[in-house]
Amino acid sequence: MSRRIATFDDFRDAVTAYRLPRVLIAGIELDLFTTIGTAAWTVSELARDVKVSERGLAILCRNLAMAGLLKKRGETYTNSRLGATALNAYHPAYRGDYLRLITSHWADWGRLLESVKTGLPLDHDEPEEPGYRRRFTWAMHHRTLETAPKIAAQINLRGARTLLDLGGGPGTYAMAFLAKNPMLRATVCDRPAALDVAREIASTHKAGARLSHVPLDLLTEAIPGTYDVIWYSNVLHIYSPKDNQAVFRRALTALNPGGRLLIQDAFLHDRDGLFPEEASLFAVSMLLFTERGNTYSAAEARVWLTDAGFQRIKVLRMKKGTEDWEDGILDARAPGTNAKTRLRRTGSARSLRPRSSH
Ligand SMILES: C[S@@+](CC[C@H](N)C(=O)[O-])C[C@H]1O[C@@H](n2cnc3c(N)ncnc32)[C@H](O)[C@@H]1O
Repeated sequence: MSRRIATFDDFRDAVTAYRLPRVLIAGIELDLFTTIGTAAWTVSELARDVKVSERGLAILCRNLAMAGLLKKRGETYTNSRLGATALNAYHPAYRGDYLRLITSHWADWGRLLESVKTGLPLDHDEPEEPGYRRRFTWAMHHRTLETAPKIAAQINLRGARTLLDLGGGPGTYAMAFLAKNPMLRATVCDRPAALDVAREIASTHKAGARLSHVPLDLLTEAIPGTYDVIWYSNVLHIYSPKDNQAVFRRALTALNPGGRLLIQDAFLHDRDGLFPEEASLFAVSMLLFTERGNTYSAAEARVWLTDAGFQRIKVLRMKKGTEDWEDGILDARAPGTNAKTRLRRTGSARSLRPRSSH
């Protein structure tokens, strides 16, 4: 919904927009796309297989076909391309962990008033509980596995040799940066259970040999080592302004002179903090699931960065349709000049530079 609600009809349309999401979630809950697979089914065959009523399934399938997720020809249904791949548990492109996470949010959003009343998250899985952390980390991988390479392709890390993926979870972004930059080495910092998943993912990629893993509570512990780049993606919104300011100060001490802190998040872009819609709605998730999280504007984060001692702060815009979030990535520099850049400027770095390949 990108339009404003002005009339009662607008209001009714906005409220009843729950209908299609509920139909889609029912399809996922029945694991219908997996059952359909690559075959053509009549409703009665399918109803027998998934053990639901024929009447109920006929109406559900018709709506899934209306939405484009199934194809209907006469009396038979087949999968759409999306249904047969990302929604099908037997396909390698299946994104089941993320599907489970977002469909489970349906029940959580139904309890929104509880959090509005108390200002506290729903009593939920403990973020430190290893089983929960493992499932969530796989969900984050399934969320970004297509986006991360597109982002990495647009961020110029030439000259950088070391990158820290702070709160990197599955390390999907770190892996994408490594794949794009053959001279780079990366480290993922996160909770131990998240790092187990990151290790499993890295072991399936050649570039994974250049990835290391360091368990860290990023909220309370100093960041070990120093880096040319720190990538802080989708963590800002979990914490309060004060928490993030403290993280920024610690990040500065972990950057080499002239090093970069890159922050990717659901930034708001207007003075009143209303838009984009996705960033405003994401704050509701933070109310439901975190103690102090929220969404922030890039302007607010810029002030925190300046206070922490960062310089030359700018916004990197990604090509439309390739972004994780629509309002860009903050790029802030530690004071000083990176040693390699300094040498290159004076001309004495020639021998350090790899020979140009073109
Ligand atoms: C929403 S996920 C983002 C993962 C990844 N950076 C991405 O952009 O897809 C947030 C990550 O931050 C990690 N995280 C949050 N608080 C943390 C803390 N105090 N110490 C270590 N990791 C933390 C979580 O475990 C999780 O992996």
